[in-house]
Amino acid sequence: MSRSFRDPSVDAGRVEAGLRTLAGVVEPDRPGWTRTALGPVDREGRETVRRWMVDAGLETTLDGAGNVVGRLRGTGSGRSLMVGSHTDTVVGGGRFDGIVGVVGAIETVRALQEAGVRLAHDLVVVDFFNEEPNEFGLSCVGSRAMAGELTTHHLGLSDDHGRTLADALGAVGIDASALLGARYDFSGVDAFVELHIEQGPYLEQHGSQIGLVESITGISRFRALFQGRADHAGTTPMDVRHDAGCAAAGTVLAVERIGSGGDRTKGTSGQVTFTPAATNVVTAHAEFRGEFRGPEAEWLHHAQDRLTAAAQEEGGSRGVQVEVDWLPLQEPAPMDESVVGTLAAVVDGLGLSSSRLFSGAEHDAAVIARQVPAGMLFVPSRDGRSHCPEEWTDLDDITAGITALTQALVALDQR
Ligand code: GLV
Ligand code: MN
Ligand code: MN
Ligand code: MN
Repeated sequence: MSRSFRDPSVDAGRVEAGLRTLAGVVEPDRPGWTRTALGPVDREGRETVRRWMVDAGLETTLDGAGNVVGRLRGTGSGRSLMVGSHTDTVVGGGRFDGIVGVVGAIETVRALQEAGVRLAHDLVVVDFFNEEPNEFGLSCVGSRAMAGELTTHHLGLSDDHGRTLADALGAVGIDASALLGARYDFSGVDAFVELHIEQGPYLEQHGSQIGLVESITGISRFRALFQGRADHAGTTPMDVRHDAGCAAAGTVLAVERIGSGGDRTKGTSGQVTFTPAATNVVTAHAEFRGEFRGPEAEWLHHAQDRLTAAAQEEGGSRGVQVEVDWLPLQEPAPMDESVVGTLAAVVDGLGLSSSRLFSGAEHDAAVIARQVPAGMLFVPSRDGRSHCPEEWTDLDDITAGITALTQALVALDQR
């Protein structure tokens, strides 16, 4: 690649300071580094990011969906390149998931400016609101809003206490109708790139510094509700009970069984509640949420059918009413071959080792890939751990990833 400028260089100390600052914006009395999107501190996290963007010289707005969007004007046609990730976390999460991509994107802007490099494209940096599944089972809320994929159906989703998503958004300052109106005009965007930690063991096992994502898993999420009957635990014979808890437990095991059955497929359950929560009362009501993941939409549809049938069977044999509500399927998302090719060439040019891989984690890039050609760069996760406090990526690896991102934008700008 020919370069007519000083090579942009990434300031590792600045990156580390950014990660440390966000690690300090966490929910009190919760495990790990918790900053849930609908919780009390996420807004402060995004406000911190907004200030960084302004300091880095970006024209910055907070859109109706809570996304922080910064724009660095290019010299050219008004077309743009987009980069970004998210800063919300799972409960008990770590300091890197999503955050590396946001801190990294802002560092890219600074590195380009300090090197005196002006791109022809505008560079749009986004901290997407609420990437992690919220209490309503919905993920990638900000990116989906930008893509125009959200409807009033989503806003009406309810949590385990009967509160709607619209209410919960209102409580963190996001108006439901503003969210639906936060559609972004992607017609001027030529490519999107997201830098992220791998969150799995592949890169470490293969001794690779960078992962080039080929496609992102599809996901099918559901909420299962079981209505049985409360009875005395000591006097009600086992064979006449309507134990909603046992029907739910059997269905949880079916999720594991089905999820274990395919190529790179997964099945996971969580957020289980038994009511009344007492050991001396037969459970009257049980519910849980679950998800299947896999690279093939067809398998996901099949898993839905099998799970619904398994839940009906678990309920039917116990006289328990069953309802399984599926969210719209999130299709597997292939990355754009040409963008991946550009990323690969840049990574090779930097002398970094790399592997191509499939992402079993979901990302905003899967949503944005339906709008514009997209690619992702992964950096290694120690011991493959993520969504836990032990999540860790070495600063050198993060810096290499940001350097690759910076050079990738230069390369995409010249295409
Ligand atoms: C988010 O990180 C997910 O893959 O669930
Ligand atoms: Mn995550
Ligand atoms: Mn993430
Ligand atoms: Mn994620």
